[in-house]
Amino acid sequence: MTREEKQKLLDDLKEKMLHDESLPLKHGATNLVFGEGNPEAQIFFLGEGPGYWEDIKGRPFVGNAGALLNQLLYSIELPREEVFITNVVCFRPPNNRDPEPAEIEAFQKYIDEMIKIIGPKVIVTLGRFSMGKFLSGARISSVHGKTFRVNWKVSEITVVPMYHPAAALRNGEVMAQIKADFLKLPEVLKEVENSDEKLSSEQMSLV
Ligand code: URA
Repeated sequence: MTREEKQKLLDDLKEKMLHDESLPLKHGATNLVFGEGNPEAQIFFLGEGPGYWEDIKGRPFVGNAGALLNQLLYSIELPREEVFITNVVCFRPPNNRDPEPAEIEAFQKYIDEMIKIIGPKVIVTLGRFSMGKFLSGARISSVHGKTFRVNWKVSEITVVPMYHPAAALRNGEVMAQIKADFLKLPEVLKEVENSDEKLSSEQMSLV
């Protein structure tokens, strides 16, 4: 699929979400925060939910946590426009409360469709709610920064759970850990690319 075709599918999906009256949290929100970035992104970031500024602007991670995310991306020389960023719920929960399981569930089919369209090599979960989508029951303090191969739909996908940037802004130790975890990302991506290449050359030699 070309980049333009992927972008068109994402635009259609956004349109569908805008008209989906069954989605929770819609009535208290100003804007849908669909997500943004490269439709061909190799790395897909999944956060928790829009906050005050995201709700106003209709864009993910544009407040304080977003400023930190931008710095972390800069630290690995990864332009923000190259990745894709969204959240497990795409409308702001009232007063920034935690999203509820039924709310996360309601948005799930849309998030899954975004992942399917983009086909990233690595998914970075930010915080425990998005981690729970792929690694249920895991403790973020023991798994952050590690690489997991997870069965997802009909294939496997690489997931790297990380702390939420907002948690890092509140706690110096978490800040040090998220910085260190980010520095590992280029190597993780390289390894996934190498193993994908190896797999496809093995498949070629079977033909
Ligand atoms: N926190 C999130 O989880 N997502 C955003 O988009 C902003 C802050």
